[in-house]
Amino acid sequence: MTPPTPRSLVPLPPDRLRVPTEEDAYVWHRVFDDPEVMEFHGGKSAEVSVYEELTARQRRHDAELGFCFWTILDEDGQVAGFTGAQPWPHPEWGPVGAIEIGWRLGRSAWGKGLATGAALTTLERLKAAGVPEVVAMVNAENHRSIAVIERLGMELAEVFMTPVGNKRGCRYHLVL
Ligand SMILES: CC(C)(COP(=O)(O)OP(=O)(O)OC[C@H]1O[C@@H](n2cnc3c(N)ncnc32)[C@H](O)[C@@H]1OP(=O)(O)O)[C@@H](O)C(=O)NCCC(=O)NCCS
Repeated sequence: MTPPTPRSLVPLPPDRLRVPTEEDAYVWHRVFDDPEVMEFHGGKSAEVSVYEELTARQRRHDAELGFCFWTILDEDGQVAGFTGAQPWPHPEWGPVGAIEIGWRLGRSAWGKGLATGAALTTLERLKAAGVPEVVAMVNAENHRSIAVIERLGMELAEVFMTPVGNKRGCRYHLVL
């Protein structure tokens, strides 16, 4: 029997990633209001204020750095979630000073290659912006996210315990 053709990894077209708008805070809140989506983010839905701060911070990153966690649009132009890059946000632990890449999709957008496609576009943009390397930080049990990380060719650099919750986490690394 002929083995199945490996699915090609294709960057998402640039117009499917946009800087989050003020309105996106409410859309992200609605799209991520799901225990499955939040399993590795505290296990429960976050308040709208969390997304207001997060989206405003991403607009600042875009203005200052030229990249951020971008809103991802699906084929119909609907908000599917976010993918992109930001400076590591915790001053007290982790890879302080590094650029991290990350993603979160609404449940109905999983299983379509959207996070991987958007991450590939992110890496292209970071390379063009002169970013030399990126990290990805992930709960060791988050197999779907680790699968995205591995599809990008990232290498495991460290296994650590998180300061909050004492969970096993993995830091992955990629030179661009
Ligand atoms: C992590 C997360 C973004 C991964 O989403 P995902 O849809 O599994 O990842 P991708 O977008 O890369 O899609 C991969 C799936 O699409 C399929 N696929 C279809 N076309 C594809 C393509 N062109 N390229 C790659 N995969 C493709 C793959 O076969 C795979 O399917 P599977 O469900 O059978 O494994 C999602 O699970 C999520 O939002 N989780 C909650 C938030 C979270 O944990 N974020 C990460 C914190 S570190």
